[in-house]
Amino acid sequence: MRVAIFGTGYVGLVTGTCLAEVGHEVVCVDVDEAKIRGLEQGVVPIYEPGLEPMVQANHAAGRLRFTTDAARAVAHGEVLFIAVGTPPDEDGSADLQYVLAVARTIGRHIERPVVVVDKSTVPVGTADRVREVIAAELAARGVEMPFDVVSNPEFLKEGDAVNDCMRPDRIVIGADNPEAAARLRRLYAPFSRNHDRFVFMDVRSAELTKYAANAMLATKISFMNEIANIAERVGADVEMVRKGIGSDPRIGWHFIYAGAGYGGSCFPKDVQALARTARQHGYVPQLLEAVEAVNDRQKGHLFELIQRHYDRGEDEGVRGKVFAVWGLAFKPDTDDMREASSRRLLAQLWEAGARVRAYDPEAMDEAMRIFGQRPDLELCPSAQAALEGADALVIVTEWKEFRSPDFARLQAALGDAVVFDGRNLYDPQEVEAAGLAYYGIGRGR
Ligand code: UGA
Repeated sequence: MRVAIFGTGYVGLVTGTCLAEVGHEVVCVDVDEAKIRGLEQGVVPIYEPGLEPMVQANHAAGRLRFTTDAARAVAHGEVLFIAVGTPPDEDGSADLQYVLAVARTIGRHIERPVVVVDKSTVPVGTADRVREVIAAELAARGVEMPFDVVSNPEFLKEGDAVNDCMRPDRIVIGADNPEAAARLRRLYAPFSRNHDRFVFMDVRSAELTKYAANAMLATKISFMNEIANIAERVGADVEMVRKGIGSDPRIGWHFIYAGAGYGGSCFPKDVQALARTARQHGYVPQLLEAVEAVNDRQKGHLFELIQRHYDRGEDEGVRGKVFAVWGLAFKPDTDDMREASSRRLLAQLWEAGARVRAYDPEAMDEAMRIFGQRPDLELCPSAQAALEGADALVIVTEWKEFRSPDFARLQAALGDAVVFDGRNLYDPQEVEAAGLAYYGIGRGR
């Protein structure tokens, strides 16, 4: 099928590339000329394992093309995806200006019946607004043309997005017209071969499904962070509790890791936006607001542990100390630092007069872009280099390469011989046996 994708960000690029991979003819369109020029040369602007070779191969095969020419993209596609960003407004609701701008462009250029697919995460009711905008543009042109607007939320995880897209556990399609639903079934059929992955529903339920999925996952994390905070006070270890509850299939092993709080471009934004939608409809979303509040507090927890440790000492507390920080990205296998817990920690350390030596396997350029040059930050080329001259080590992101350090070497390198483990990577006894003080999350035993 012929597909056009508006927005070559994370979602648009991965979706477009995977659709090309299974044989569709895809045109990706973006307003950012530099990005489009780069993509035409095979340069992928985000770090996502496996994506770049796939982009290059499909581009070379002529199935994946890039353009800034929106009219050309509309003329090409029988299915038109809207996959542009929906950043949060000041009040936490999703800003729809880019989505509606694409709808206007589509309305201005369509010459035949199309299916428009909302792929961006958008509040319930957005498909109706997209439909209105397209209809208004058609009316202004004096054209009468049937078209459909379908909601097809994405469930990609950064770092594993290609796999999630190629082998989805479900394909949610919200369509009020069975013909549009059938067209999307054909489009996605190659991804649903051995087992029917399709879940068809009405448009609004599909829009809400996306938020419900992310809010549920965020709730699991905040719940475990709350248990961790209780564990710290009652002398229990949240890691034991996790093992003790995960085997119950109703609870499950996934997303019950206590830590330094969730970040990224999805959970914080989506929980807030759903809460906002609820309030707009006259409902007070007590649970969602608590999920958000617990997470916000959790992002400051590592610093609390640090302060508590240093306030016990004789000297001036945290002021003048040097902290090695391992991990800046909001999670492993990405260079994304949006809403990352590391940002809160660094701000708190600097505020308290400490210096930071930071290392992340992928996010160093992003860190440079965000923080720039500053006297209290050294961006180091390796985990080992970050330890040089440091008093303490703080782990913020659970990259694989941080999982089994040589604790004796750590002990020798760190001036104050203390480790703050924000992702519970280590066995406290093993760390302490090497002569280091150890702080984890929710490990009060
Ligand atoms: C999330 C969802 O997992 C995807 O299913 C969804 O499609 C995507 O949002 C989206 O809406 O686009 P993502 O933000 O890439 O994906 O990252 P996750 O792997 O879900 O991690 C989110 C955060 O939760 C990270 O900061 C991670 O460290 C934290 N986390 C995760 C925990 O603190 N504990 C856990 O047990 C799991």
